[in-house]
Amino acid sequence: MSGDTPVIEVDNVTTAFHGHVVHRHLHLTVMPGEVLALIGGSGSGKTTLLRLLLGLEVPQAGTVKIFGHPLGRCAQRDLERVRYRWGVLFQNGALFSALSVFDNIALPLRELGSVPRDLITPLVMLKLAQVGLQPEDALKRPAELSGGMVKRVSLARALILDPPLLFLDEPTAGLDPDSSKQFVKLLRRLRQELGLTVVMVTHDVDTLFAVVDRVAVLADQHILACGPLAEVARLPHPFVRNFFLGHVERCAEDDLRRFRLSLDDTSDDGGVPAVLREEHSL
Ligand SMILES: Nc1ncnc2c1ncn2[C@@H]1O[C@H](COP(=O)(O)OP(=O)(O)O)[C@@H](O)[C@H]1O
Ligand SMILES: [Mg+2]
Repeated sequence: MSGDTPVIEVDNVTTAFHGHVVHRHLHLTVMPGEVLALIGGSGSGKTTLLRLLLGLEVPQAGTVKIFGHPLGRCAQRDLERVRYRWGVLFQNGALFSALSVFDNIALPLRELGSVPRDLITPLVMLKLAQVGLQPEDALKRPAELSGGMVKRVSLARALILDPPLLFLDEPTAGLDPDSSKQFVKLLRRLRQELGLTVVMVTHDVDTLFAVVDRVAVLADQHILACGPLAEVARLPHPFVRNFFLGHVERCAEDDLRRFRLSLDDTSDDGGVPAVLREEHSL
């Protein structure tokens, strides 16, 4: 796929449930390497849009293309091939409580069936490290994990097949402010390391300020606006005003850059500046 082919194309999509219209004539394009946030009031159709992008809902009209493949119209085999090119972190983490952390992360590899058994352990342990967890966490059950760890395990599972595209539904919801900040820093790092394209639903202003390139606002059945933070935060719509209340000043380019640099300054588990870590590894 060329760098200019959109990862996601939503064209004139209308969605309705039993006559109740959720989206009307949506258009949205996401380019490779972009991090896009979907914001909107409760019930505005954010999760439904995510589900449309995953092929879990079918629109009444319009088309959704992922990596150039129209969902709903491609052959089952094509659909499966596309399916393995994205990872999803659902709102509540959705880990299997009876399975260990290791088995939860290994699940997509085992389902795929073509990964040699002796590769599964190193691949799972690598992902565990990549999301900032310790080897001994592999044996734990989801019930033994903190909220932040559940998110990290879910993220490791979403990334185990090395997908270029990641969907996140409210990734920091329910986390305390510190875990939330650590998770956002992790997302920033993974995005830089893996060159991911990310679409996330979020209510969290700090998440937007930390990682997002463009924001799409869902309101009144439409995508009201889709653009950089500074542009979107100044829209005179009541939802947008309320959402960014007290934060509009932070959108200034210099402030945004400073905030983002401050996040990259320290390691995920706090303390060691990135520069020092690099010196150590020399
Ligand atoms: N499977 C479904 N059946 C019927 N109505 C649904 C279904 N999924 C979502 N809806 C309705 O669609 C609207 C948007 O829901 P949702 O996408 O979950 O909103 P958000 O994630 O923005 O809070 C809501 O009115 C919700 O009740
Ligand atoms: Mg939702």
